[in-house]
Amino acid sequence: MQSLTLNSYAKLNLVLDVLGQRPDGFHELRTIFERIDLHDTIILKRTSGPIRIVCDHPHVPLGPRNLAYQVAQRLQKDFDIPEGVTITIEKRIPVTAGLAGGSSNAASVLQGLNRLWGLGLTSKKLRDYAWAVGSDVAFFLYDTSYALGEGRGEQIKVLAFKTKLWHVLVTPQVKIYTRDVFRRLNLKLTKKKDNVNILLPFLRGNNLYSIGSSLSNDLEPAILSLKPHWGRLLKEKLFDAGAVGVCFSGSGPSVFALAESQKHALSLRARFDRRFSQVFVVSTY
Ligand code: C5P
Repeated sequence: MQSLTLNSYAKLNLVLDVLGQRPDGFHELRTIFERIDLHDTIILKRTSGPIRIVCDHPHVPLGPRNLAYQVAQRLQKDFDIPEGVTITIEKRIPVTAGLAGGSSNAASVLQGLNRLWGLGLTSKKLRDYAWAVGSDVAFFLYDTSYALGEGRGEQIKVLAFKTKLWHVLVTPQVKIYTRDVFRRLNLKLTKKKDNVNILLPFLRGNNLYSIGSSLSNDLEPAILSLKPHWGRLLKEKLFDAGAVGVCFSGSGPSVFALAESQKHALSLRARFDRRFSQVFVVSTY
C-alpha cells in the first residue's frame, strides 16, 4: 500500500465539567464528546523524503507544532522507519476553535501510519501515542458517536447511544488559545453540579428539550472573560432565533446550538452573517 485517504472528524463537548487542577498542571475533566460530520480529509503518501505536511490553510502549522507531524515523527523514530510520509490535510474544520481538528488529524495519522507502515500497534499502544500528543486525540481512536472523557479528557468510555442531533455551529473569527482559557479559570466559581450525569439519561433517551437545557461548559466564564462581547451576543442571538440549547465547545470560540431538525438548523443558519463567522449545519456522526 503506497497511500491512504482518511476522514478526520470534529467533536463538540455537550458537557464539560472541570473538577480541579492536577499536580501535573492539567485539569481534571468530565466531558461528553459528540462526534460530528464536519471533517477534514487526510491523505498519507509513503515517500523516500522527510515527513512533510501539505495544507493550504494559513493557520495550520507545517512543522513540529502540528500534532499530526508529532505523531508521524514519534512513530518513525520508535520503529526505525527508513522512509518518510507526505501528509496532505484538506482543512474544513476551523482551526484553534474548540472542535479538536488538530487532535482528530493526529488520530487519523496514527491509525493511518499503523496500517501504511505495518506497525501492528494494539489499541492500547495507539492510546499511549494519542495521550502523549494531546488530551483530545484519544476520543477519535474510538469508532463511536458519543463518549465520556475523564482524566485530562483522554480516558474514554464509549457511550453506545443511537441519538442523532442537529446543530448550527458558529465559529467567530477570533483566536482563543486553550491554555489561556484554562489559566483564566477560577475553580472557586465553577459550580459543583454533576452535569454529566444530568445529561446522560436525556441523551440516551433522545429527549431533545432536556438535552438542550442540560448543555453546559465550565470554561464559559473564562472564555467570556477573554472576549467579553461577542460570546454573550452570539449565545443570545442563537437563543432568540429559536435554538433548543446553546453552548460553547471545548475552550471556544465555537458556539453550537441544538436544533429540532435539519430544517430548523438550516433556518437558524440563515440568520447569521458569514462575514464575521463560519457557520455550519452539522449532525452527529
Ligand atoms: O492537551 P492539550 O494540548 O489539548 O492541552 C492544551 C493546554 O490546555 C494544556 O497545555 C493545558 O494548559 C490546558 N489543559 C488543561 N487541562 C486539560 C486539558 C488541557 O489544563 N485537561
